[in-house]
Amino acid sequence: MTEHGTWDEAYAERYGEWSAHMTADIPFYVGLALEANGPIVELAVGNGRVAVPVARATGRRVIGIDRSPAMLAQAERAAADAGVELDLRPADIRDLALDEPAALIYCPFRSLLHLPTWADRRLVFERVAAALTPGGRFAWNAFVFDHQYAAKADGVRVDGPVPHTVRYTAPENRLDIVMDNGATSSLWWATKNEWLGLIDVAGLELEALYGGFSGEPFGEESREYVFVARRPGGPTR
Ligand SMILES: C[S@@+](CC[C@H](N)C(=O)[O-])C[C@H]1O[C@@H](n2cnc3c(N)ncnc32)[C@H](O)[C@@H]1O
Repeated sequence: MTEHGTWDEAYAERYGEWSAHMTADIPFYVGLALEANGPIVELAVGNGRVAVPVARATGRRVIGIDRSPAMLAQAERAAADAGVELDLRPADIRDLALDEPAALIYCPFRSLLHLPTWADRRLVFERVAAALTPGGRFAWNAFVFDHQYAAKADGVRVDGPVPHTVRYTAPENRLDIVMDNGATSSLWWATKNEWLGLIDVAGLELEALYGGFSGEPFGEESREYVFVARRPGGPTR
């Protein structure tokens, strides 16, 4: 079994299948990118699933950071196939540092949940805040923390598109997706107040919390946190 939280090559190989169902987030992040007046950065860019359409829609180079060489190789191919430019950087998002401040930093598909501790997330938020222009935005989405859902999912075997078993470790708020070869991808779920605390300690401001990618209001039935925060000062866009 791989270390908890690593994005094993086994996931990378079949990431296209894992992520095929997720399309609703693309227009949301593209919309933010079209409003960004300056560099655009995707944290945990993966195979470029979102970065490629963002680069296509804006006609601009998108900086993509990821620690998985296999995922970055896929992103490079996807960018070449689409005829767009991605500036792909192999790095851990906890080490984020940019030469030029960004107008938009975004992190789709719950990738911040791969960070094991609150301190890891705080580091990312502080680095994001330092890397944004005044008024620049930070947007991300994550599962709404739901202990009941996670408890029901514990032990469930999922046959497709990539066969795996789900494990829930309640004291750690951690869901493990365990593939048949033992490769494990872990998600440490966070509550709304944890996210709001991160925005606060990083010196960012909450611009919006949506319950979905169409901008629906966040409410008791919401299953997804869709956050937009911004660095104070400057124009809003
Ligand atoms: C669920 S995929 C998301 C990929 C892409 N953003 C998307 O929306 O399809 C998660 C990605 O996070 C990357 N990742 C996880 N932890 C990371 C870290 N600490 N630093 C950089 N990349 C990380 C993995 O390598 C993987 O490519």
